[in-house]
Amino acid sequence: MKTVVVNTTSKTYKIHIGHGLLESAGDLSKEVIKASKAAIVTDSTVNLLYADKLDASLKESGFKTVKFCFPAGEKSKNASTLIELLNFLAESHFSREDAVFALGGGVVGDLAGLAASMYMRGIRFVQVPTTMLAAVDSSVGGKTAIDLEAGKNLAGAFYQPDLVLCDTNTLSTLPETEFANGCAEVIKYAIIRDSSLLTAIKPPLENRIDDIIYRCVKIKSDIVGIDERDTGERQILNFGHTFAHAIEKCSAYTVPHGSAVATGMAIITRASVKKKLCDENCLTKVLDALSWYDLPPSTLYGESELFETVLSDKKRSADKITLIIPQTIGHCERISVSFVEAGDFLRLGLED
Ligand code: NAD
Ligand code: GLY
Repeated sequence: MKTVVVNTTSKTYKIHIGHGLLESAGDLSKEVIKASKAAIVTDSTVNLLYADKLDASLKESGFKTVKFCFPAGEKSKNASTLIELLNFLAESHFSREDAVFALGGGVVGDLAGLAASMYMRGIRFVQVPTTMLAAVDSSVGGKTAIDLEAGKNLAGAFYQPDLVLCDTNTLSTLPETEFANGCAEVIKYAIIRDSSLLTAIKPPLENRIDDIIYRCVKIKSDIVGIDERDTGERQILNFGHTFAHAIEKCSAYTVPHGSAVATGMAIITRASVKKKLCDENCLTKVLDALSWYDLPPSTLYGESELFETVLSDKKRSADKITLIIPQTIGHCERISVSFVEAGDFLRLGLED
């Protein structure tokens, strides 16, 4: 088992990464939270695969467990599931001593984390990621949210978990496309911070997955340690995300987040090359890496429908949007641009 310690202004916590951690989840959790009541929050797919294992481990360590399960998929990451979960915690007589365990991918983690932050103004929270995307990204750093009609992740909170337990055995049941979606985020880390991750993520991965997760989580925790609330340095983690969120919204959330991030990274890199902010070689490497995982370098949606959605993105201020521009593989810059310039980046990035 490898461990990363995350040090933020609001909380310090551990991320454990390794094989078979579900079996020791109860004991590992007891090291940081009291063995009181535990609500396992999960989705309909993960429930059938891993909920019993987590439940058994928690019970064995003295937790009293209840379970809340909702239909798998981004469409469940909404206000109505959130309210159902909050009512479930109240009806189960949860107190501030008790804990929410998010067992699943980023959808479960984001939703359960927001509920944990709101219920009684904050109860204990453990992330148990079961997708590659959640392992390398969403389970770490404390961003929690639901989607609103107006856009992606528009209602949320910064709420760090007390512990992250990443059992890499769970990744063995992931469909290939879901694994690929997580790899899009690994490619993101390579482009923004560590070019050697691009070599590491080139298939076949053999037995490098735990190490890749560890390296991504280390990058993210270092960044979150400097800028927990996304006011500066952390924004580089949003590389590709402004246009990705627009693609997700335009598709009514049928395009998965990781796949949309892949396209968003291709769009912004293509535009950056055309604006001479980044060299051609960088674009070739990005497109090559996406092709290893059949991740889409382009989208069916047009400039005007995407741009309308970009305007509701959280990363905008009154009249500016922050874009993350790749310069070389391993280094990105944040630039603040007007809406007109952002539209220009989008147009250039969509053209071949
Ligand atoms: P997801 O949670 O929808 O999981 C993808 C699919 O895989 C689901 O159908 C799920 O049931 C299934 N699944 C999960 N684990 C499985 C397993 N081990 N075996 C088989 N199937 C399994 O999607 P995701 O890609 O994990 O996460 C995407 C979400 O994460 C988006 O809502 C995105 O906005 C959010 N996100 C949040 C952050 C953050 O910092 N909070 C960062 C990145 C993404
Ligand atoms: N996924 C972007 C962030 O956590 O800041």
